Amino acid sequence: MEPNEGIIYEYVWIVIVAAIVAGLAASLAYYGIALDLNPACNATPIDVDKVLQEFKPGVKELGPGIYQVDILAGQFFWNPNKIVLKDPVRVEFRITSKDVVHGFEIVGTSVNVMVIPGYIAEFSWEPPKNAEGRYLIICHEYCGIGHQEMKAELIIERTNTLLDGADIDALEVTGGDIGKITEPTYIEFEGVISG
Ligand code: CUA
Repeated sequence: MEPNEGIIYEYVWIVIVAAIVAGLAASLAYYGIALDLNPACNATPIDVDKVLQEFKPGVKELGPGIYQVDILAGQFFWNPNKIVLKDPVRVEFRITSKDVVHGFEIVGTSVNVMVIPGYIAEFSWEPPKNAEGRYLIICHEYCGIGHQEMKAELIIERTNTLLDGADIDALEVTGGDIGKITEPTYIEFEGVISG
């Protein structure tokens, strides 16, 4: 092959690659602009003030080892982002979102629940008796550009004072090392979705 012949092939390939890139860019523009098909970045129009009237994020101890944890999710946070539970036997979670769909997951446990704007996801979790230390909470549903930064932590402290003279049957947890979780129910906020 003569040197000039090789140059022609280079140009041919440059044109082919440029055509492929232009075709991909054109198809993205066509889907995004002409068909208005875009990634789900638009927030559900929620009346956040109304949600916060009924829903106060935080941790409450309802009784010995029984906690209620109310969590508000948003792009890109969990509130509260640090949850400390002493000797938890049962945790009643209530979780809602102020904008888009998020996924609440406590890594290494059975807790993995969709969080939907306009609804409170209610479920309870019995942590395994050997659960102790720091657990990472992540968002497992792609929710926008900062999705991978949406983290929180759960800290389980064990003093075992509950085990002294306590009703051991009441502390019995099934479901292996990941804890038992109830099926979440979704309770609609009245009138918070405005469109
Ligand atoms: Cu929230 Cu991903």
